[in-house]
Amino acid sequence: MRTKKQALLLVGSPGKENSTSASLGTFLIEKLQDHGFKTDVLFIYKSIRQDDSKRALLGKVRQADVVVIAFPLYVDSLPYLVVKSLEIIAKDRKEKIPKTEQSLLCIVNNGFPEASQNDTAIAICHRFAAETGFKWAGGLALGGGGAIGDKPLSGIKSRARNVIKSLEITANSLNSRVPLPQEAITLMARPIVPKWLYLLIATIGWKKTAKKFNTHKNLYDRPFLS
Ligand SMILES: Cc1cc2nc3c(=O)[nH]c(=O)nc-3n(C[C@H](O)[C@H](O)[C@H](O)COP(=O)(O)O)c2cc1C
Repeated sequence: MRTKKQALLLVGSPGKENSTSASLGTFLIEKLQDHGFKTDVLFIYKSIRQDDSKRALLGKVRQADVVVIAFPLYVDSLPYLVVKSLEIIAKDRKEKIPKTEQSLLCIVNNGFPEASQNDTAIAICHRFAAETGFKWAGGLALGGGGAIGDKPLSGIKSRARNVIKSLEITANSLNSRVPLPQEAITLMARPIVPKWLYLLIATIGWKKTAKKFNTHKNLYDRPFLS
């Protein structure tokens, strides 16, 4: 018989282990460990390649009391890796209807400064939960995710204080099986750095990268303009 509650983190960033998604999700999963959860972390890019890794993913999902999906926003939606994994999970849950209550929570981060850009992606995850028999635990959205990058949150405590507080509240709510408090959503959506500073740093980074690839003179090209 199982005594410990189980939580599974699925990281959906193609940026793999070095990603904002991994930093956010890992922090939450560590907080759940503090609450006594047994935890697992799977990187979706590794888990949907082969049949045996897909089977392992489905096995972990079936056992989990809480599933957390952390991913970046791609073109106002979910990256391919996440869409594919949700399709695989949905098919499995149709074939083997789950008997215990399982919660699903998502954490989405994006590149533009506004967290609200993630609303559609969260709505898609909410819909997925409703159609596949998960209890919807809520969605957290972080704008300007590049301000976290691949750094562990514990290493950037002062900058990430609102994100950290949000994830601590989220861990408490998952542990107590209560709906995600609005405070957690609001804290996560607060800009990490002022918008003007974020845009300045992002523009410098963009130009530096263009220079590296010798495309800095083409940044304002409009090739499809007739
Ligand atoms: C193909 C692609 C599409 C993207 N689309 C969006 C978008 O629609 N809106 C946005 O704000 N950021 C977009 N981004 C930026 C990522 O969401 C952002 O860099 C995020 O912080 C990456 O998170 P990660 O480190 O967890 O992968 C896109 C990035 C890529 C590579």
